[in-house]
Amino acid sequence: MGELAAKLIAWQQRHGRHNLPWQGSRDPYRVWLSEIMLQQTQVATVLNYYPRFLARFGDVRSLAAAPLDDVLALWSGLGYYSRARNLHRCAQSVVGAHGGEFPRSAAALAELPGIGRSTAAAIAVFCFGERAAILDGNVKRVLTRAIGYGDDLAVVAAERTLWQRAEALLPASGIEAYTQGLMDLGATRCSVRRPQCNACPLHALCVARREGAPERYPVKTRKLERRQRSNAMLWLSDGDRVWLVQRPSHGVWAGLWSLALYDSLDQLQALAAAWPGHGEGLAPVDHSLTHFDWHLQPWRQQLPRRLSAARRAALDAELPAGRWFTIEQALQLGLPAPVRRLLAST
Ligand code: ADE
Repeated sequence: MGELAAKLIAWQQRHGRHNLPWQGSRDPYRVWLSEIMLQQTQVATVLNYYPRFLARFGDVRSLAAAPLDDVLALWSGLGYYSRARNLHRCAQSVVGAHGGEFPRSAAALAELPGIGRSTAAAIAVFCFGERAAILDGNVKRVLTRAIGYGDDLAVVAAERTLWQRAEALLPASGIEAYTQGLMDLGATRCSVRRPQCNACPLHALCVARREGAPERYPVKTRKLERRQRSNAMLWLSDGDRVWLVQRPSHGVWAGLWSLALYDSLDQLQALAAAWPGHGEGLAPVDHSLTHFDWHLQPWRQQLPRRLSAARRAALDAELPAGRWFTIEQALQLGLPAPVRRLLAST
């Protein structure tokens, strides 16, 4: 085993955290829930929510069966509500597509809604002992400092290389303590601004400490630090008419008429599955705005010619507030460029 892993494991066993409520469980539901709550939220806050959530939803089936509003209500205060929506969708996917059992590998877990590569690895490590690398924000900091990795993480290739380095550092045994050790070190000693290098188990080998300025890592340039966003976009057609919604007066595409946006294609497809007519995914559109790169995934749903009044009313009630326009009328409106291109392509 490499020196870094050996030191980290020994430190975790003596000085790491061992009594968090999700530790000591190999139940993927409990571990998954904790990992999602711990994304962008500190342990101290999660400690207030986790037991209440589990008391209400004790397993993945009860969560999947709950109305989304109940889930959001229990989540309120944790922020980043897309996590709660994904949590709910993920539970439904585990029940609907996996018979109520979480998949048992990091690769398969990463296919589920809201579970990224690092979270998938954490669950696979803690529940199934898989040798998988985690690389969340805290761990990036610990590892880039320890190995003196100074490439710009805003560059995709640099991030990919860091994943490879993280994988190469994994110990042959003790993956649970190693993984928890990385998390614990990132959350306690190896802080963003004033790392406590004197109390760090990696003190002797840490390249950044030796260089004298550990805060310089990780390197991520501002200019390239563009946020990524992705949404699904509903192109709902009724003959030559299309359903458009007016964007709020603030924010992206303020006041423009647009196709309705959804959090994800999965979410939209789940709704569209109950709609009449024919639906299909169109080629994704990548759109760059000042502050982020937007990955838009259009879904075209064409309603059948004759739709009963009742069916139509039910559908209209499910749609975000908007109006039907003929394509000709629509092209007269203020439309965002990608929406205009799409509609003009008919
Ligand atoms: N942050 C993310 N996952 C964590 C975990 N399992 N324990 C403590 N902090 C974490």
